[in-house]
Amino acid sequence: MARGEEPMLTRRPSSHNDERATEEDALLTGQRPTRQPAASRWARYREIALFTWGLVATAAVIVLAVVYQHQTSKTTSERHGERPNGKRNLVFMVSDGMGPTSLALTRGWRQYVNALPWDGTLVLDKHLIGNSRTRSSSSLVTDSAAGATAFSCGHKSYNGAISVMPDHSPCGSVMEAAKRAGYTTGLVVTTRITDATPACFASHVRTRAMEDQIAEQLIGDGPLGRNVDLILGGGRCHFLPNTTAGGCRADGRDLIEKADEHDWNYIGTREDFDGLNLGSSVKLPLLGLFAPTDIPFEIDRRHVDDEYPSLEEMAKTALRALKDATKDSDQGFFLMIEGSRIDHAGHNNDPAAQVHEVLAYDRAMQAVIDFLEEDDTEGLMVATSDHETGGLASARQLNVNYPEYLWYPDVLANATHSAEHTARLYFSHLSSSQPSKADLRKYLPKLINDNLGIKNVTPEEIEYLIEHPIYAPWTLADVISKRSQTGWSTHGHSAVDVNIYASDRHAAKKLQGNHENTEVGEFLRWYLDVEEEVKEVTKELRDKLEISSGESWLGPIPSQEDLAKVETHLMSPQRGFEQA
Ligand SMILES: *[C@@H]1O[C@H](CO)[C@@H](O)[C@H](O)[C@H]1NC(C)=O
Ligand SMILES: *[C@@H]1O[C@H](CO)[C@@H](O)[C@H](O)[C@H]1NC(C)=O
Ligand SMILES: [Zn+2]
Repeated sequence: MARGEEPMLTRRPSSHNDERATEEDALLTGQRPTRQPAASRWARYREIALFTWGLVATAAVIVLAVVYQHQTSKTTSERHGERPNGKRNLVFMVSDGMGPTSLALTRGWRQYVNALPWDGTLVLDKHLIGNSRTRSSSSLVTDSAAGATAFSCGHKSYNGAISVMPDHSPCGSVMEAAKRAGYTTGLVVTTRITDATPACFASHVRTRAMEDQIAEQLIGDGPLGRNVDLILGGGRCHFLPNTTAGGCRADGRDLIEKADEHDWNYIGTREDFDGLNLGSSVKLPLLGLFAPTDIPFEIDRRHVDDEYPSLEEMAKTALRALKDATKDSDQGFFLMIEGSRIDHAGHNNDPAAQVHEVLAYDRAMQAVIDFLEEDDTEGLMVATSDHETGGLASARQLNVNYPEYLWYPDVLANATHSAEHTARLYFSHLSSSQPSKADLRKYLPKLINDNLGIKNVTPEEIEYLIEHPIYAPWTLADVISKRSQTGWSTHGHSAVDVNIYASDRHAAKKLQGNHENTEVGEFLRWYLDVEEEVKEVTKELRDKLEISSGESWLGPIPSQEDLAKVETHLMSPQRGFEQA
């Protein structure tokens, strides 16, 4: 046989394998493999030809396999990131202010508390598919308003913008478009429903501070009428006049009464919520507002479970109610669920509050995944954060001689309440009993031990709390942070990329890898197939803006100072107290 005619296919694998075997042996024995010098020039040519043929054959096999697999599984559109054809449900979850370190912190803490092995991960960890870049049009560090506008409109805008563009004109949201296309819609949050993230899905104002106007638009008293069918969360304050208990509207209107005119079924207590039977006894539209402002942090809420529902319970209720409501419909539902107060724990730099918030969100995600697995309708959960808050680090250098790579989850495990709650107790003690400094030196160590589980608070820390009570929420959070060696770099937000999650990585293929936050927004409208409706809604909003010359619903164009003032207020240590 001539050299060129040698049956190459039969020889190639064995020579290839021989070489691999030699190298693997070498790895075990530590001996260098010895290679035979090529017998001749022809042998070298033959080797090149064999190698080339091997490459071509392998490539052909791969191409055929891909083509074959594509054809066999084409029926399930989910598998290859194609848009589904029929009825579908979309759940979009937002973890406000949750960065990658929030996961490491919560995972480590949970492993410690539940005595889990080092691979005991969170539900979130199992559904990671990518990450998102978060900058806004006005800053590398976004706020929640610009972040949520990227999700709702698919556009970058300025910090403070509630579904308006950088030129202050309104942009149609994916929820308004979905409603127009026949979907049933819902919003579930643990903060005020008038806060930036939920606001962006069903209202348009030029600064997030306009919460009175946001409340009007949410119930359908805005330019587009009602676009939400189910609301569960906090924030009664901006629905009630400031002359009534728990109300803060400046215009004296009672929107709960007004909601009745828009057919809303209003509920406001835990008892009412229990009457919904986790969603099986819901009549839409449903407006459930369970707190004047924010629902308490999970670390505090679990002690008053008879007053406030958890995020998981609200998520389950919403899913069941929306499923039942769309039973006989051609269109499914679009639901936004936000773990809102991970952000607030970050603003306060409170690691104990943070891990409980993240874990509550993790449980809500499990509930969503369980629902989607059991439900017959095609459905998808996509989740991300708008930004990171606090510049959190799961390590902290306390002095120049830093000898250990450690942080201490057991310190967080001993805290029974948030720093915010503890500071509230301190404030009410100050105002009710006008204590002397000597009294406070006895009172504060006990307060800190009872609520934060810390026995070795220093005299310096106590004196600081006495001299600067207004900073108590931050000072108390720092007492825990230092002892657990948890680091923070800001009381505001940071620019780190945040994670993207999905219940089905194939169906959410477009979001695998690293993306701009606006691409998450584009994905939502693409999956629901409402891109045309978004354009229609945007046009209608702009037409109506021209007609209503007063621009009352959108508000005046805010100055830089106005926008900065809102952010400063949101970051202040007193934030939680003025509203409560
Ligand atoms: C209610 O709001 C109005 C308008 O901002 C204000 O003038 C009034 O003082 C407020 N009332 C209370 C009780 O806060
Ligand atoms: C947590 O509390 C337990 C029980 O009081 C105590 O033994 C332990 O030392 C505490 N851990 C920390 C880090 O303070
Ligand atoms: Zn924030």
